[in-house]
Amino acid sequence: MKNRRIVLASRPTNVPVAANFCSEEVDIPELGEGEVLIENLVYAIDPAIRGMMDDVKSYMPPIPIGGLIPAMALGRVIKSRNPGFREGDYGRAFLGWESHSILKPDTVGFENVRVSSDLPLTPYMGAIGWSGITAYVGLKKYGEMRDGDEVLVSAAAGAVGSVAGQIARLSGNRVVGTVGSPDKVRTIIDELGFQGAIDYRNCDDLGAEIDRHFPNGIDLYFENVGGATLDAVLPRMKAFGRIPVCGMIANYNNQTEQYPIRNLWQVLVNRITMRGFLAYEAMDMLHEAEDALGDWVRHGKLVATENVSTGLESAPDAFIRLMSGQTQGKTLVRSDATVTTMDDWKMPA
Ligand SMILES: NC(=O)c1ccc[n+]([C@@H]2O[C@H](COP(=O)([O-])OP(=O)(O)OC[C@H]3O[C@@H](n4cnc5c(N)ncnc54)[C@H](OP(=O)(O)O)[C@@H]3O)[C@@H](O)[C@H]2O)c1
Repeated sequence: MKNRRIVLASRPTNVPVAANFCSEEVDIPELGEGEVLIENLVYAIDPAIRGMMDDVKSYMPPIPIGGLIPAMALGRVIKSRNPGFREGDYGRAFLGWESHSILKPDTVGFENVRVSSDLPLTPYMGAIGWSGITAYVGLKKYGEMRDGDEVLVSAAAGAVGSVAGQIARLSGNRVVGTVGSPDKVRTIIDELGFQGAIDYRNCDDLGAEIDRHFPNGIDLYFENVGGATLDAVLPRMKAFGRIPVCGMIANYNNQTEQYPIRNLWQVLVNRITMRGFLAYEAMDMLHEAEDALGDWVRHGKLVATENVSTGLESAPDAFIRLMSGQTQGKTLVRSDATVTTMDDWKMPA
């Protein structure tokens, strides 16, 4: 048995292209004590990978040329030397775009996932997985969401944003999203129940649009994009507003020339709490988040939007579409067509 994997062939200069990736086959090493071998079934396609493709300092080390593309993956256990995992269990961790992975107890996100038989597998990598968990802890822990908050979410049709907006609404708060196309406006209003939407690519004055939706200011801004959106938001925060900083994707394709934020002074003017976070550092809330998200999806309260390609070799293309802003919901790759997705699921009557 060989491990098929996708590695970095060259560093992208802007939006990645197919030539930045290539595939190879390598041997699978013997398992050490405490380790678990899984056959991967679902791969996350995440913007964070883009940051690791550049040779710059970040919260994750750069991928070396020829190195495995790191990513969250979920797979079935085929061999275990860990008492917490049995054959047939589902292991999930920060692994990579590869057919087989070895989970070690110190692998980031190392978890025996409690997959429920009444739900398909893919949402465990999206709305019930780390995208949903990120939205949950970002709002509740780092954004200190309160009753009556007026909430703005950026990249609101995306994996994290679509869940963050729905959690805010399910918590009884008014939520507006920024998105980059009329289709995404329709999605977040008609399918996800946001109370308002701003198409930042097709409006003349983003600040004026935000003012129209938030005449009294914003209590909580769930930050996914940075750049011009953040600059327009800062002066429109209420006093003591909160900005959990989840990501700044507007800069990821061009990290050497970051957008110059002009309104940083407004952090002081509005006494804003702006806090960066990494979801996997909120492990104390993991099971609370998974249970809440699973229940909401199961009962049809939270829509788990996803776009799923089939076959490991489709991962680079899915990633290029993600980094060009073409996707909605969680972008995923499943190993083959037997892996169930939200399209296969019918809510119990
Ligand atoms: N802190 C954490 O622990 C954590 C965990 C997961 C994800 N994140 C971050 O959360 C953010 C959202 O991630 P996600 O997985 O949910 O991705 P996503 O929103 O599903 O996909 C990316 C979306 O970002 C928007 N976007 C804005 N500016 C862009 C640009 N210059 N280039 C490409 N896309 C741009 C696009 O939507 P529009 O068309 O609407 O602009 C695009 O569809 C990212 O910043 C990511 O790094 C952080």
